[in-house]
Amino acid sequence: MPPSSAPASASGPRLPDAPADERLGEYVPDLASLPRFHVWTLGCQMNRSDSEEMAGRLLAAGCAEAPSMETADLVVINTCAIREGAEQKVIGRQGHLARLKAANPGLRVVLTGCSVREPDRGGLRRRYPAVDLFLRPDEEPELVDRLGLASAQGAIGSAGSPGAVGATTTVGRAVVGVADGLSATRARAIGEGTIARGSAISAWLPIIYGCDKTCTYCIVPFSRGPERSRPFDDIVDEARALAAAGYREVTLLGQNVNSYGHDLAPDPRFVHVDAERWAGRRLDLHGRPDLAELIRAIDGLRTSDGRPAIPRLRFVTSHPWDLSDRLIAALADCPSVCEHLHLPVQSGDDAVLRRMGRQYTIDHYRERLARIRDAVPGITISTDIIVGFCGETEEQFGRTLELLETVRYDQVFAAAYSPRPGTPATRLADDVPPGTKRRRLNELLALQQAIGLERNEAWIGKDVEVLVDSVAPARGHAHDDERGELPRVVGRTRGNKLVHLVGDPDLLGGEVTVRVKHAGPYALRGQYVPVSDAPMR
Ligand code: SAH
Ligand code: SF4
Ligand code: F3S
Repeated sequence: MPPSSAPASASGPRLPDAPADERLGEYVPDLASLPRFHVWTLGCQMNRSDSEEMAGRLLAAGCAEAPSMETADLVVINTCAIREGAEQKVIGRQGHLARLKAANPGLRVVLTGCSVREPDRGGLRRRYPAVDLFLRPDEEPELVDRLGLASAQGAIGSAGSPGAVGATTTVGRAVVGVADGLSATRARAIGEGTIARGSAISAWLPIIYGCDKTCTYCIVPFSRGPERSRPFDDIVDEARALAAAGYREVTLLGQNVNSYGHDLAPDPRFVHVDAERWAGRRLDLHGRPDLAELIRAIDGLRTSDGRPAIPRLRFVTSHPWDLSDRLIAALADCPSVCEHLHLPVQSGDDAVLRRMGRQYTIDHYRERLARIRDAVPGITISTDIIVGFCGETEEQFGRTLELLETVRYDQVFAAAYSPRPGTPATRLADDVPPGTKRRRLNELLALQQAIGLERNEAWIGKDVEVLVDSVAPARGHAHDDERGELPRVVGRTRGNKLVHLVGDPDLLGGEVTVRVKHAGPYALRGQYVPVSDAPMR
């Protein structure tokens, strides 16, 4: 998953809702006695989604949100462990947190997310001395109880009450929640409306937790455990509720969304699904829902005049090996599915891919891409790359550059290889010197900058449909054509291009026509075309 682009955040800190059960009104606790919380989220969209769930639980328990760590009595840090740099950001704040604790002895710090892995509690305490409570990602539903914050405000059996908490168990190499612990607590939170979503326009929707892949460099399977799909109907119900609440865009989330459904029970509704995943572990998908079925079901939610109830449907992340023809057909058939695919390739060299345990070859990857581009003309493609993986030669790195030159991605998220303790790749020598990793990264980014610019310049003069999702922070200087009273707003095209335009914040949540005037390597800039001026479509 690429780093998340945070959608419009709710304006200002949030206050708890009124009690779910009005009979409990008189027991509303004194707000001043409950901690004001602040959630600091690092990492990918999955972490953002998890933080929305945690914030929702805290609000349901009666806590209010503080705008910063400095003003909070409870700091929840949702960590990312994908590279050492991500962990260092949090380790580097321990001194600051210790000082805040000295000034506010009531301050408690909870650390959760991917840095919290069994069985390393001793190591965690050494690295994060300011932290009071560690919760693995699958223990996040226990947050409110473990802090002793379950309050009279939560309805009986709510996410904040002990009934919602499942025991944990060990599956294979990882400790995970009981079978569907996360799915069950999510469904309950949806039922009670306690997810504190960061945007009223664009929503995250987790469909599968964990990852069964064995990419040798990757910590995620160790942090998040094996794949667990949420029940099909729970997901469609959540999408329906999002449509009813006016959401314009939904992104289905999972480390590998293409694996969705293989662990669910066969269901007569899906007898026609006839597929097998045979690499790595042979998996029988017959008669189970898959991502294609799920996308078709969500796309099938329609307004009374037959339009998709959620106009923009996205999904991340797709592993190239599991990208089925059934999924490609669904992308082509479903009008709500956005014309964008994030397809991480990691390297352009087969030997490196083998060492990375990625399962596919570049030929296979190119074949999938060709098929998608054929099925969905004009689809934009983004990818993730790791440079300087163990044993990567100049020639092998050159193949990655060659891949970028020929594929011509719209966007590339690249990083230097960072060994993660406990992952299989730590048994290989991390033999590309740091200076070489840096040089290769810069070379790759420079190449992609030129490609991104060329791809974006092709849009100049064209009209694009933009879903406006945030107001841009004020900038020191405005471009010549942007001077005036109105602020800049920001949105994305269906192809996921970032677009800046001058416009009234009233445009927020609207899908508007924008004439592209300027292009940079990472974003477009354009002019709002009011409906009466827009060409007929
Ligand atoms: N399931 C997602 C992975 C999320 S991690 C996927 O397969 O895309 C996001 C990206 O981080 C990965 O695609 C990879 O490019 C990068 N990454 C993962 N482990 C890394 C490591 N040890 N060093 C550098 N980059 C890494
Ligand atoms: Fe990590 Fe590979 Fe799973 Fe992505 S597919 S989360 S890179 S193990
Ligand atoms: Fe995401 Fe980072 Fe975990 S990328 S899955 S938060 S390691």
